[in-house]
Amino acid sequence: MEIETHNLEETHQVAEDFLSKLKNNLDRSTIVFLSGDLGAGKTAFTQGLAKTLGVTEEVTSPTFVIQKIYHLPVGQKFNKMIHIDCYRLENDRDWEVLNMDNILTDPTNLVVVEWPEKIDQLSTLEAVKIEFKFIDENTRIIKILP
Ligand SMILES: Nc1ncnc2c1ncn2[C@@H]1O[C@H](COP(=O)(O)OP(=O)(O)O)[C@@H](O)[C@H]1O
Ligand SMILES: [Mg+2]
Repeated sequence: MEIETHNLEETHQVAEDFLSKLKNNLDRSTIVFLSGDLGAGKTAFTQGLAKTLGVTEEVTSPTFVIQKIYHLPVGQKFNKMIHIDCYRLENDRDWEVLNMDNILTDPTNLVVVEWPEKIDQLSTLEAVKIEFKFIDENTRIIKILP
């Protein structure tokens, strides 16, 4: 499915619609991969997910901290949203340092990963994949892969 958005609010709406259809995995974390160039809207989409899940604190890009954990209000689809940005990770060893095993196995976690293609180990995970394309200053195409 491909959707064209023309501002931040539309991208947030796409995130909300996506989340309403997203099925929780029951035996492991639910993982979403966000791919696309810098500025294509991956973090903006994640902000839309967070807002929909009741996060009131500001969601900023975790490029330098690599990973941010948001505890979600009771009654949401997930207990935690974990936002990971692999942009600055160099290799699989960096990934191992993050010790992701607990995060990826907890079915109450929603794990949202920007730049998953940077880490080979991620390619073996089952994840919902979304591609972001920069069209012009305010236009983006969001493609949710089946
Ligand atoms: N239709 C749109 N959807 C999402 N972001 C948009 C859109 N139009 C303009 N923007 C702007 O593009 C930028 C997207 O940045 P960001 O989400 O951080 O990208 P990425 O995480 O992919 O590098 C933001 O500054 C945002 O305000
Ligand atoms: Mg980003």
